[in-house]
Amino acid sequence: MLSKSKTWVKHRLSRALGLPQLHSHLCQIQQSLPALSHRLVTIEEDLHRVTDRLAVAAPAPAVPSPPQADRTSEYFIKFPPYSPHLQPELLNYWDPVRSLTVALAIERIKKERIHGNLAELGVFQGHLSRFLHLLAPDRTLYLLDTFQGFPEQDLESFQTGDKRFSETSLEIVEKNIGDLTNVVIKQGYFPDTAAGLENEQFCFVMLDVDLYKPTLAGLDFFYPRLAPGGYMFLHDYNWIESNRAVSRALDAFMADKPEHLVEIPDAWGTVLFRKQ
Ligand SMILES: C[S@@+](CC[C@H](N)C(=O)[O-])C[C@H]1O[C@@H](n2cnc3c(N)ncnc32)[C@H](O)[C@@H]1O
Repeated sequence: MLSKSKTWVKHRLSRALGLPQLHSHLCQIQQSLPALSHRLVTIEEDLHRVTDRLAVAAPAPAVPSPPQADRTSEYFIKFPPYSPHLQPELLNYWDPVRSLTVALAIERIKKERIHGNLAELGVFQGHLSRFLHLLAPDRTLYLLDTFQGFPEQDLESFQTGDKRFSETSLEIVEKNIGDLTNVVIKQGYFPDTAAGLENEQFCFVMLDVDLYKPTLAGLDFFYPRLAPGGYMFLHDYNWIESNRAVSRALDAFMADKPEHLVEIPDAWGTVLFRKQ
């Protein structure tokens, strides 16, 4: 009788505390654990994929400007072959390694009497265009850009919706360049805007479009029209921009060409070659 009532009390207590439900919940949780842990692994994999995509599509981080003292000091060329009045402006460009290398190339072109005009494919607001024109004002400078940012049809799947470089206009570019004598602006989608330039010869080409498709199109168009000894510069070669679009395009294009690439340590890893 006593043991019977003990069992009854235990049963009532256990029910009062909700122990059977608790036990059944614990069993259910235990059963779901393998599925939950599998789900966690797939979530973690998804997260890795998203992080990788973000790293590739992320806009280039800002590069701090070198301290002012470095720009005018003995670290930069003291007796430049180009006109000394250009020196302060070239040094004050935010990436003086780039502007000074371009300046030396254009002086060499003049010294070696390499024929042809200049072109910049990918102009944005025209800051580099200004130097190109100041350094060779007597030659025609062709500037090619949508001036509305990246064309949607050139973006790769991981770049959809990249709206960079749309904050520009013809007015901004013209104002930055100043004197527009011998400057020809071709606004629109490249290679469509190359129409009419088929018979041109170039002594200097700056390719700076960031994306795979127009970089390859630029190489296809300008390489055969580059004079022997002429310079081709490609910005962003040693940079992750657009999942290394520039090096993907250039390495594929140059595989059967005789020229060798020269890398320079400017902010975005420019590469250049001279046509044989
Ligand atoms: C990095 S910005 C150029 C920067 C400029 N060279 C400078 O040094 O200031 C790249 C430019 O390429 C242009 N672009 C990219 N693909 C193009 C295409 N297929 N046709 C015309 N312009 C294009 C964009 O509109 C953008 O202004």
